[in-house]
Amino acid sequence: MLSKWSRAAHPWVMKILGRDWVEYIASNTMNVVTQKVDPFLWTYDCKAEVVAIRQETPDTKTFVLLPNQHFKQPLPGQHIELSAVISEGEKAESRCYSLSIIDENTVSITVKRNPEGKVSNWLHDHVGIGVVLNISSPRGAFIYRGQEKLLFISAGAGITPCFSILNALESTAKRPDIAFYYRSRTPEETIFRSQLESNKVRSPVDISYSRSIEPDDRVNVMPNQLMDAYPDIKDRHIYLCGPDAFKKEVLSFLESIEYDFDNLEVEHFVRFNQDLTTLRKLDEDVTVTLKSQNISFVIEAENCDQTLLEAAEKKGIHLEHGCRSGMCGTCRTNLVSGQVSGNQLGKTIYPCTAYPASTQLILE
Ligand code: FES
Repeated sequence: MLSKWSRAAHPWVMKILGRDWVEYIASNTMNVVTQKVDPFLWTYDCKAEVVAIRQETPDTKTFVLLPNQHFKQPLPGQHIELSAVISEGEKAESRCYSLSIIDENTVSITVKRNPEGKVSNWLHDHVGIGVVLNISSPRGAFIYRGQEKLLFISAGAGITPCFSILNALESTAKRPDIAFYYRSRTPEETIFRSQLESNKVRSPVDISYSRSIEPDDRVNVMPNQLMDAYPDIKDRHIYLCGPDAFKKEVLSFLESIEYDFDNLEVEHFVRFNQDLTTLRKLDEDVTVTLKSQNISFVIEAENCDQTLLEAAEKKGIHLEHGCRSGMCGTCRTNLVSGQVSGNQLGKTIYPCTAYPASTQLILE
């Protein structure tokens, strides 16, 4: 916990000096004394101080964070990885949280309590204002790319990256055509309900409740009725985020209408586990071509149980990556031709958790 003086000074220092100057001054005055006096500023690590906490719903809180000088400016929809030692003597636990709100000097994460969630429960029960958290710089590819027609589909805490993108787009002069579908259990459990229903949000927002409907006879659209609610769904670029069961339901619906998965962005923070015994065994070498880098490399038959990321690294080829477990989306690329097994959504594949399944592979 930081001293009262430091807590008062940090927002001011970040605002007046800016992160680049703080970085310059701190790195030139770093020593054991300054590191002890203020471990938030005099550090080589990316950290964030909790400067406010808001209760959103009975089991969801928003933590407003003031990141230090090592934090890079985020894009709406991106996430951070937060690491914390939950129990003394144990190793740190890491979890990814989308940035729900991005302000000039602060960012927010909105965390729903999860009965089995070690880190989310720790945040709810033990983290107060003034606590300094270890975080990563923003990451992830769940970002707006200038498409003209969008449909956000989210449920539960999965609303957070969609809300962040929606907020950013609402304030732009040339706003795309946005539709926003959010599934929640009850009105009381609906995160950002008042903001979504305020007339500051000009895009149509449809909140659908799985456990109750309001007396105003709200239309309770199930994921498999999305075509009725959004007849032009196939023309819209979809951003999907929510609990696994919800995403599966939506994905199988999208498959059933032959939606083009190239137009789909999915955020998922759960480690991808591939049962290696189900891998297609190849007894020939595999040639992988990386179109964007204009290079090819060979994965020998005996190494075909390696992920594409591991195999590329073994050949000294750098592929951009983050979590290495299929969660962050940093390594995401498109499969131009060939087959992979593992982490794949339509043509989109995640090389950190995808394996070769044909002898010729072309990746974007
Ligand atoms: S999804 Fe994180 S590195 Fe592949």
